Amino acid sequence: MHLSHLSESLKGSEIVRLGNEIKDKIRAGRRIYNFTIGDFDSGIFPIPDALEKAIHEAYKEGFTTYPPAEGILELRESVGQFISAREGIHYSPGEILIASGGRPLIYALFRAIVDKGEKVIYGVPSWNNNHYVHFVEGEHVQIETTPDQQFLPTAAQIKPLLKNATLLALCSPQNPTGTVFSKAELQSICDAVVEENLRRGPDQKKLFIMYDQMYWTLTYGNTEHYNPVSLRPELKETTIFIDGISKVFAATGLRVGWALGPSTVIAKMKAILSHMGAWAPMAEQRATALFLLQKEKVDHYLFHFKAELEERLNLIYKGFMELRESGFAVDAVAPQAAIYLTIRFGLVGKSTEEGKRLSNQEEVTSYILDKAGLAVVPFSSFGAGKQSDWYRLSVGTCKKEEIPEMLGAVRKALEALH
Ligand SMILES: Cc1ncc(COP(=O)(O)O)c(C=O)c1O
Repeated sequence: MHLSHLSESLKGSEIVRLGNEIKDKIRAGRRIYNFTIGDFDSGIFPIPDALEKAIHEAYKEGFTTYPPAEGILELRESVGQFISAREGIHYSPGEILIASGGRPLIYALFRAIVDKGEKVIYGVPSWNNNHYVHFVEGEHVQIETTPDQQFLPTAAQIKPLLKNATLLALCSPQNPTGTVFSKAELQSICDAVVEENLRRGPDQKKLFIMYDQMYWTLTYGNTEHYNPVSLRPELKETTIFIDGISKVFAATGLRVGWALGPSTVIAKMKAILSHMGAWAPMAEQRATALFLLQKEKVDHYLFHFKAELEERLNLIYKGFMELRESGFAVDAVAPQAAIYLTIRFGLVGKSTEEGKRLSNQEEVTSYILDKAGLAVVPFSSFGAGKQSDWYRLSVGTCKKEEIPEMLGAVRKALEALH
């Protein structure tokens, strides 16, 4: 059967596929530390109590109809206040669009801005940019990143690529790495974008920035989150933020996200979304509107939620540093934000107890899964090269008490190699 070129060339999400494979192993009775999915175990990380209550209330009050295509006014106002109070940038309701999570907003943004064959710049590894560029048949302009730059694209790498590009897709805190742009680096990137747009004539399409800050309140220690519009206010005209409640309130299943941007782009994204009907449910919109304004409750939730995530990230990071000090070919990047830890298994060329040589990274991934029961996502699933020996470990489903046990299993698996 012939279908559209798009559907025939579509690649499913590799992470979801990997997750399903692991679930099968668990069903078959294997003990697996499944740290692959960018989601939460709601038994460990429930949504905020006040948010849950407000959802029940909203259903009882009859919030069960179609929402307005741009999202209910009280939620857009509430998001505007939330962002203004916490990030110091100001967006009116006409510059805010609500949808059922971040994904449809990203899709609508790509559709609204990028034409077939146009250049989209993004770093690898990064979350799903490759799929969205494929959707709009854009030209992939990928930037390979390394651990010494925390796997984030630098201004020096971005600058020479900007000429005639349509979209620069940035994400901070970044999925999959759990790292953030420093103020200085983001400033330099912003300056390069401002300069490029000044260079372009009035009839030429502008260079836009997608700034995905889905995890932005989840920063740890001294880490701070910066955004292009605070640093360079003139970028408000060409920056679209992607944001929402999915990750920062462990509310991935509630499906409430928002985009902030110039009203012309927001209006087009709304038009595109309205044909998909990817709106956030009415009751969840109403509840989120009420919750975001309850500063004390939001702060209280974030305080505990962040402490729990940070503790897990640090414990596992410390464990990997100890393994490295013991001489094993592993590594990790100090966690800065989000729910992810970047870890490395440099085991290609080693041989197992059974005398089998691990000849490529895929075999290393299988070995770690089979021997240690540790399931993590290789950076190759986020657009990095197949030979990359780095992985994303997500702590959203991690029970604290299983961390020492998991580290012990990893140590054993490493000891068994020669
Ligand atoms: C960086 C980033 N942006 C956006 C999303 C999409 O979030 P949502 O679940 O709200 O669609 C995700 C989800 O994994 C993400 O990691």
